[in-house]
Amino acid sequence: MRIFSGIQPTGKLHIGNYVGAIKQWLELQLKHKCLFCIVDLHAITIPYDPKNFQEVIFQKAVEYLACGINPEKSIIFVQSYVKEHTELTWLLNTITPMGDLSRMTQFKEKSKQFKKIVGAGLFNYPILMAADILLYQTDIVPVGKDQQQHVELARTLARAFNRKFGKTFRVPELMLPKLGAKIMSLQNPKQKMSKSIPRSCLFLVDEPNVIREKIMTAVTDPGKEIVYDLKRKPGISNLLTIYSLFSEMPIKKLEEDFKGRGYKELKKSLVKVLVQSLEPIRRKRKELLKREVYVQEVLNQGAKKAQVIAQSTMTEVRKKMGLV
Ligand code: AMP
Ligand code: TRP
Repeated sequence: MRIFSGIQPTGKLHIGNYVGAIKQWLELQLKHKCLFCIVDLHAITIPYDPKNFQEVIFQKAVEYLACGINPEKSIIFVQSYVKEHTELTWLLNTITPMGDLSRMTQFKEKSKQFKKIVGAGLFNYPILMAADILLYQTDIVPVGKDQQQHVELARTLARAFNRKFGKTFRVPELMLPKLGAKIMSLQNPKQKMSKSIPRSCLFLVDEPNVIREKIMTAVTDPGKEIVYDLKRKPGISNLLTIYSLFSEMPIKKLEEDFKGRGYKELKKSLVKVLVQSLEPIRRKRKELLKREVYVQEVLNQGAKKAQVIAQSTMTEVRKKMGLV
């Protein structure tokens, strides 16, 4: 089976990105052909700094590798290196209903956040994402819950194209993690942990003292009991979810272990788990930051391999659309 997923080169990876996306990728790469993309063309749909953009992209590649994405097994590449993404985006534009785009939750949220500069790129963002996925005849797209609607659109466009021009694209399936598809903010457990609100995030590169500070001050709920209950205890439920994902212990077992103990004890113990789990990533990242040539080579080789698949799809797409 073929797997495709991507992350934007903006900010640093947080534990939501890790459990929503990367943790799934690590398992999938053991059994399947995977492509993991750094989607730079998506990142430029909101304000960014062109001067340090290449540095941000490099940092993202380092983070992928530090998390354990293995370039011997998976194709790691930068979206803009493979021009076919933009070509397919244009072609898919012609069969995408405007209504579908205007219903996208992420577009509505981002256009509120960046009121003054809502470009057509932000509106068309989901078409570029569909192109990413369909270009590689993807079977499975492992992402967090916030991307579900975008993957749905990719499925709709694949079907619409196949109907109109003849069978060309595989219709991809969404894959959400069973637990952790939506990690919530540490400061407000009713909001998603999001790069655009750095205070809400625990980053993979945070040092132990920062992890301690962020977890110990995380917002919790009234009462004392440690139980998983999204309605009554969104804060504690979020901490239990994070605990379970990083310790591989079921939430039920954690509830038993922490029976009769307070929030503070849960938090202290969670700090230990996180410091320990994130330490290898932090260490590997520091090593990789010094190996610039190697990281660049991974990206160059990745783009070459990706392009072979992308070109083969595009040859067929052009033919079907009467463009040759
Ligand atoms: P982004 O940072 O928006 O490029 O997201 C990269 C990946 O992380 C996507 O698969 C998202 O669905 C996932 N993701 C982002 N935020 C969260 C979160 N709070 N919980 C779970 N997954 C998330
Ligand atoms: N839009 C996704 C996000 O913000 C990133 C992304 C771009 C993606 N293209 C993709 C994810 C293709 C999965 C498949 O998280």
